[in-house]
Amino acid sequence: MILKIRSYIWRIKVNREKTIEVIKECLPAARFKHSLAVAVTAEKLAWKEGLAVDKAYLAGLLHDYAKGYSEEELKRLARISSWYIDQEEMSIYQLLHAPVAAYLVEKELGIDDSQILEAIRYHTIGSPDMGKLAVIIYIADFIEPSRDFSGIDKIRKEVDQGLDYGILAITNHILRYHLDHNRVIHPNTLALRNAYLRRIYDE
Ligand SMILES: [Fe+2]
Ligand SMILES: [Fe+2]
Repeated sequence: MILKIRSYIWRIKVNREKTIEVIKECLPAARFKHSLAVAVTAEKLAWKEGLAVDKAYLAGLLHDYAKGYSEEELKRLARISSWYIDQEEMSIYQLLHAPVAAYLVEKELGIDDSQILEAIRYHTIGSPDMGKLAVIIYIADFIEPSRDFSGIDKIRKEVDQGLDYGILAITNHILRYHLDHNRVIHPNTLALRNAYLRRIYDE
């Protein structure tokens, strides 16, 4: 009951300034700046797609909420998290800040919007079934203005063609990168890539 009341009060009070303060407190300066940039980028994409811009902004701000935790703490929180985490994801601790953030923003901030939680949870590995808000956060995290790497201009152009093209370009980039660097690939990345490849070319 108390949790429900707290959640209700939080929802009433929740606004950008408050959330910005929360994120500023829990993240290092560079990660805070990145979170703001993801929020603004997500807001723009949501506006273009006719989605709720406030939700997109909030999900963008909160997506890296657990980024400041140690490997040990992430693993501990992942184990008690309410989200399903497969063995592959559990073995790559850098991925765990996503499900842990989704778990914590619900538990600590009382945010219970399923679309926002899904967007935070899947911003690293993605999912072929994720909804549009999650797609927007996945893309915004990758293309926010401070991101600068070989191939980013092409990816931004693909995103301009539509979210499906954006997902395909990003997952292709991630797969290539991991192959080139001999790194483990989470199966969701391939599943997401295949699903969007079919969406684009099978229609
Ligand atoms: Fe992240
Ligand atoms: Fe991020």
